[in-house]
Amino acid sequence: MLKGKGLISVFDLSRAEVESLLETTFLMKRLYLSGALPAPLRGKRIALLLEKPSTRTRFSFESAVISLGGYPIVAGERELQLSRGESVEDTAKVLGRYVHGIGARVLKHETLVRLNSNSGVPVLNLLSDVEHPLQALSDLMTIREHFGSFPKIAFVGDGQDNVLLSLMGLVAKLGLQLNVASPRELRPSESVLSRVEEESERSDAVVEFFEDPYQAVSGVKVVYTDVWVSMGKESESERRKSLLRPFSVTSDLMAYASTDAVFMHCLPAVRGEEVEGAVLDGPRSIVWTQAENKLYGSMAALALII
Ligand code: CP
Ligand code: NVA
Repeated sequence: MLKGKGLISVFDLSRAEVESLLETTFLMKRLYLSGALPAPLRGKRIALLLEKPSTRTRFSFESAVISLGGYPIVAGERELQLSRGESVEDTAKVLGRYVHGIGARVLKHETLVRLNSNSGVPVLNLLSDVEHPLQALSDLMTIREHFGSFPKIAFVGDGQDNVLLSLMGLVAKLGLQLNVASPRELRPSESVLSRVEEESERSDAVVEFFEDPYQAVSGVKVVYTDVWVSMGKESESERRKSLLRPFSVTSDLMAYASTDAVFMHCLPAVRGEEVEGAVLDGPRSIVWTQAENKLYGSMAALALII
């Protein structure tokens, strides 16, 4: 099903493919923790291209390749001839002759599309300015692991966030419920809204938009946020911070969620901005398990795709 296909956007996945990725993430966690992981990547080399910094995704993805018997080859942008003007197409054609798959974190989403259509090997999106599919997949696994089902989620903050877009896509594919609270100026674009709406109609998902974070989190079991200034958006820093100030996830805001609500964040976090330190480091936070599960999500994607 997924074998040999790139994973660039969650919107390209079928519902069955999303379900298979989630089930395989659970399976990988069980196999890893019982010391029974198979080695489906034995003899396979995977390139990791990083145009932006990464801690969790880089280490989880690289660890996943090694744990499944493969060999990762990591390169930052400055180490590649790309930085001296070689085209993405030429880079892709050459890499495809050496490796069996490419994981890439890119400045521009379009670079992923160009890598995928020219390399002849599957390309996995390790974060772009538009989406963060592997993050959202392992996050949904974390939610189901915690609750045993998928309760309603509230995302509070930047409505144009890459993690949010992947979460919205998956929620819409799977027929789940999501409230999004963001300033009107940072709402998702019309084209994103119509894609989410179209998918939701098919699946009976409910994705609702709010300007009042208190209304959005009222009674929900998962409160999710991400940074106000994503990588590459530094020039908009002051404007974003002032628009997003009322959307900080504080203890006061968490009190409006369900009594058993959890707090999630893809990390890295800025305590005192999008989340109060007491929430991130408090008993309702599941961010460390969320980060751990990225390892199993990467294993699942690699095992199914490569
Ligand atoms: N959540 C996440 O992708 O973290 P990194 O930027 O550290 O990889
Ligand atoms: N939205 C954040 C996610 C980091 C994992 C960014 O793009 O910087």
